[in-house]
Amino acid sequence: MSRRISVSGLGYLGLVHAICLAHEGFEVVGIDIDRHRVDGLRKGRLPFFEPGLEEVFRAARRRITFTHRVADLADCDVHFLCVGTPQSADGRETDTSHVFDAALGLVPYLKPDALVVGKSTVPVGTAALLSTALRQAAGREVRLAWSPEFVRQGRCVHDTLNPDRIVYGTGGSRPQDDVDVLDEIFAPQYSRGTQRLVVDYATAELVKVAANAFLATKISFINAVAELCEQSGADVVALAEAIGMDARIGHQFLSAGLGFGGGCLPKDLAGFQARAEEYGAEPAVTMMRAVEQVNGKARTNVVELALDMCDGDLMGKNITVLGAAFKPHTDDVRESPALDVARICDALGARVTVHDPLAIDNAKKAHPRLRYERDVLRAARGADVVLHLTEWPDYRELDPESLGRVVRRRRIIDGRHGLKPEQWSRAGWSYRAWGRPLASTFFDVDVDAQAWAVGG
Ligand code: UGA
Repeated sequence: MSRRISVSGLGYLGLVHAICLAHEGFEVVGIDIDRHRVDGLRKGRLPFFEPGLEEVFRAARRRITFTHRVADLADCDVHFLCVGTPQSADGRETDTSHVFDAALGLVPYLKPDALVVGKSTVPVGTAALLSTALRQAAGREVRLAWSPEFVRQGRCVHDTLNPDRIVYGTGGSRPQDDVDVLDEIFAPQYSRGTQRLVVDYATAELVKVAANAFLATKISFINAVAELCEQSGADVVALAEAIGMDARIGHQFLSAGLGFGGGCLPKDLAGFQARAEEYGAEPAVTMMRAVEQVNGKARTNVVELALDMCDGDLMGKNITVLGAAFKPHTDDVRESPALDVARICDALGARVTVHDPLAIDNAKKAHPRLRYERDVLRAARGADVVLHLTEWPDYRELDPESLGRVVRRRRIIDGRHGLKPEQWSRAGWSYRAWGRPLASTFFDVDVDAQAWAVGG
């Protein structure tokens, strides 16, 4: 394999992509404007936790270098753009300036035949604009393709090496040549069964946000049904199990609870909504707005349950929050539903102590007002109510009896429907979960086999 590849932007997306390319045998140069990050990587230090990344990095170290100087990319044949595209506070605007800066910065160093490949998540229309900007800056056509990324945090390495599909958006004058280059780069994935789809720029850009908007819709759908279950006495966990058995529906992303968070789903949903509004696609706007509302309500439902258990007043109550990360197997707390609930409880006057196996340092930075404990039993000491808000496997293994000995009141709210209610009830705990009946006739779901375990 002779191609030399650059990857601009060494965040979750770019760094994992760069390391996996090196792992597949390519010579890779990773570039980031964050010198601290680059220096750390040069010394072999990864800037975040991602399962399996350390091992792949170690194995691929001699084929990957890191820099903050664009001139060091001059001998690369293919340049991937993986820089961030932050959303404005109201979610309506996406800042694509890093994409343009990274791409245009390459121009003086581009080989005549080099291919630039965008991977960042961008609003529809960005690739076409960038293509024009590159042509103007270079005084000639610069080959550009767009290939969105579908990796999940916590499974980035697996998803990069074994994606379900790879999408190429093409729009230049040599689409077949662009496809050939990308086919060569992703040959290892294709040999393992990945599917490929070639589309135009706009479709490629929309595929990405539409996929995330669909996943968000699926989660909000089951949370909307949970609302109905809560009022009618039905059990949403059993219901999800039953409807998921229909192959057309499937079990993945059908776990009701606290809803979605993280750096992607909320951001892409807002972006999708903003673009739909801009283009006058009213049904999409209405639908996405509803998805967002249901997701927000899922958080207040948990607070409502806590209030209910504490006689309507959280003032001075000790609340233990199990989980800070936006989902298990990551230390990422961006848009974390768990921390949002912790913050609301704190605002209502509770003394909130947060535990997480991995994300405490990041959580502390985001919410310094809350208290943190690295040991579960210490976190639960004196608790009036325990909230299970991120479904780490560690929490499923907790012994209700031992935990019961340190809390003040044996009361637990399962915000993720991940615990075995009977186990907790047997040990004398009051167990509540939104959309599950209070009675002891719980559907005995195999929590380990739930969609979380495989899909999340
Ligand atoms: C998401 C998509 O799943 C990836 O395909 C996509 O590539 C990525 O965004 C991205 O745009 O880069 P990720 O943000 O890592 O991946 O997280 P997910 O696994 O999708 O989970 C998102 C949220 O949904 C989490 O807060 C999770 O707890 C929640 N969730 C998930 C539920 O509430 N219920 C479910 O059934 C599944």
